Amino acid sequence: MAKTIYIFNGPNLNLLGTREPEIYGTTTLADIEAMCLKHAEKHGLSVSFHQSNDEGALVELIQKARSSGMGVIINAGAYTHTSVAILDAILALEIPVVEVHLSNLFKREEFRHHSFITPAAQGLICGLGAQGYVMAIDYLSQS
Ligand code: DQA
Repeated sequence: MAKTIYIFNGPNLNLLGTREPEIYGTTTLADIEAMCLKHAEKHGLSVSFHQSNDEGALVELIQKARSSGMGVIINAGAYTHTSVAILDAILALEIPVVEVHLSNLFKREEFRHHSFITPAAQGLICGLGAQGYVMAIDYLSQS
């Protein structure tokens, strides 16, 4: 059975494609999912792709990946900057985590410069759009 990479997306990422396209581009979340599935397949891996606008639901999803996945990619959206609950769920993971953001957080408002998730992640990719997810899959496939 193919090993699984879990990919979690937080609030408002379901609106990608039409949401602030000048910042996030026109690629939809469904496009990103398709891109990730195709890329993971090249490494012989499978992808379990999720999005939720709900903080508690994201915590539940992360807990389910705790020991069954081979790695996690997370774009927690705005919860990146606010959620200790998501940080704690990530700290409880026994598998590597890569934090991804479509936009370059450090070119944006000051409140986006702080992430609760980064200290618990292996690394952070931001500002490279959907390509960041693909790069995270490459990293996890070798970890
Ligand atoms: C984001 C950046 C966050 O600051 C923002 O709240 C998002 C998207 C990104 O992918 O660039 O919802 O995580």
